[in-house]
Amino acid sequence: MLNLTGKNALVTGIANNRSIAWGIAQQLHKAGANLGITYLPDERGKMEKKVAELVEPLNPSLFVPCNVQYDEQVKSTFEAVQDQWGKLDILIHCLAFANREDLTGDFSQTSRSGFKTALEISTYSLVQLSGAAKPLMTEGGSIITLTYLGGVRAIPNYNVMGVAKAGLEASVRYLAAELGPANIRVNAISAGPIRTLASSAVGGILDMIHHVEEVAPLRRTVTQQEVGNTAAFLSSELASGITGQVLYVDAGYEIMGM
Ligand SMILES: NC(=O)c1ccc[n+]([C@@H]2O[C@H](COP(=O)([O-])OP(=O)(O)OC[C@H]3O[C@@H](n4cnc5c(N)ncnc54)[C@H](O)[C@@H]3O)[C@@H](O)[C@H]2O)c1
Repeated sequence: MLNLTGKNALVTGIANNRSIAWGIAQQLHKAGANLGITYLPDERGKMEKKVAELVEPLNPSLFVPCNVQYDEQVKSTFEAVQDQWGKLDILIHCLAFANREDLTGDFSQTSRSGFKTALEISTYSLVQLSGAAKPLMTEGGSIITLTYLGGVRAIPNYNVMGVAKAGLEASVRYLAAELGPANIRVNAISAGPIRTLASSAVGGILDMIHHVEEVAPLRRTVTQQEVGNTAAFLSSELASGITGQVLYVDAGYEIMGM
């Protein structure tokens, strides 16, 4: 029943084989989706090469640079979607950034520029990409973003990223309300802690993972593939009645009081 054949899916946020977006791209590919991949360009082209090699087995029909801090890169990404695909069905927003010094210590010491950077890249980008995707989702669509429990609870060191995730989850609701009449669904997956490049910047991430392994009902944390399976489900017709939601894929940790 989970068949994404004929669906065009744009996946952002693959940096390496630990990225949650990589787990998602693999599961969308398995379900039959046609993939487009964006990468964060750097001056020496290292990321382009690395991501291109990684995603090659998934045969993406689109591979484009997209730094969400630059409007013209976002514009050219969606122009490429328009030119090569004509329509978009699935958008995976799987990116975030905050300065390392803002992911440890006292939240009250967050600088104005650090706050702006975190919210611009991690939160505004969902609004920006959804706005660009909207006219291309002519047959309806599914937009999925990644969030974390730190958006609704105070988690040590998560600090400004918690504020960014709270804004992200609110953005999911506002976007779902706006885009619903066009049959475009917008949801967030709240993943349990996973070791990745981004999460390694959060102070004490390994302690967080060990804590989840001890306390979560399933006595473990989750994998990129499990998050990918949920993204494939949310992208499919099986989830046709679900929008504006935050779905926890965290081995049950969120329900625990102690
Ligand atoms: N790893 C976890 O424990 C965890 C838990 C819950 C939610 N998340 C969320 O999952 C998402 C993916 O993170 P991840 O853990 O897979 O780490 P990751 O480092 O593999 O992915 C983060 C991605 O963001 C991209 N990025 C950063 N700045 C960018 C910019 N300006 N423009 C475009 N792309 C940019 C990076 O290139 C990278 O691909 C993030 O939103 C993160 O907050 C992660």
